[in-house]
Amino acid sequence: MKIFKKTKIGQIYSKDGDKFFIFAGLDKKLVAELKALSLNKKDKELQKNTGDLKRFGLGSYSEWYKKNRTPFALVHEKTGALAGLVWFGPKALGEKSIKYGIEGKKVKKESKKNTWHTIAYRAYPPFRGKGITKKFTAFATDVYMKNFPNIKVWAGIDDRNKASQKLSEGLGFKTLEKLSDKKAHWLVMVKY
Ligand SMILES: CC(C)(COP(=O)(O)OP(=O)(O)OC[C@H]1O[C@@H](n2cnc3c(N)ncnc32)[C@H](O)[C@@H]1OP(=O)(O)O)[C@@H](O)C(=O)NCCC(=O)NCCS
Repeated sequence: MKIFKKTKIGQIYSKDGDKFFIFAGLDKKLVAELKALSLNKKDKELQKNTGDLKRFGLGSYSEWYKKNRTPFALVHEKTGALAGLVWFGPKALGEKSIKYGIEGKKVKKESKKNTWHTIAYRAYPPFRGKGITKKFTAFATDVYMKNFPNIKVWAGIDDRNKASQKLSEGLGFKTLEKLSDKKAHWLVMVKY
């Protein structure tokens, strides 16, 4: 997938009947929106639970994209606003994310035996908590897995982030106790 190219691949409806389009990839307009949303200090949930301020707000989308990331965007039909984001990419099982400040740190060798890819998801205000992220994430996961049928997907979640935990459990992810770090509130959730 080329950077800054977006392709419409589906649509979903929220509980209140609003229509949303699913795109594989983000164009420059959506990337600019992602940057602004990531810089939004008023979005306490996003700032508390993700490293997006550093990743997309202060950091460069192009640099991030080079790490073999595959993003999907959810766009509100009526307003054209970026309502959600899901991405996947190869990442050793259990490797902590940018939020923990040690991205790239080596993890146990055993976790590299399989081809593990990570999943991350976001819903942006005012679209959060409306039941769309679950549908969007399930759709994007299906598409991604069709393209990479031999991989396994995992998610790194803060155990205080109940919305994220509920979402991943709803998608069939289970906690892998062995690689989770309760003291650091770090949950490694896997889907086999
Ligand atoms: C986590 C996040 C993506 C969930 O998106 P969402 O649009 O709110 O999710 P949905 O409305 O589709 O709900 C998914 C499930 O979580 C539950 N849920 C949503 N918000 C919740 C909350 N605050 N507390 C507990 N459960 C919650 C829903 O009831 C639903 O469960 P169900 O399928 O059993 O009904 C969103 O809250 C978010 O973007 N948060 C900030 C960024 C973030 O934390 N990302 C994840 C980092 S690991």
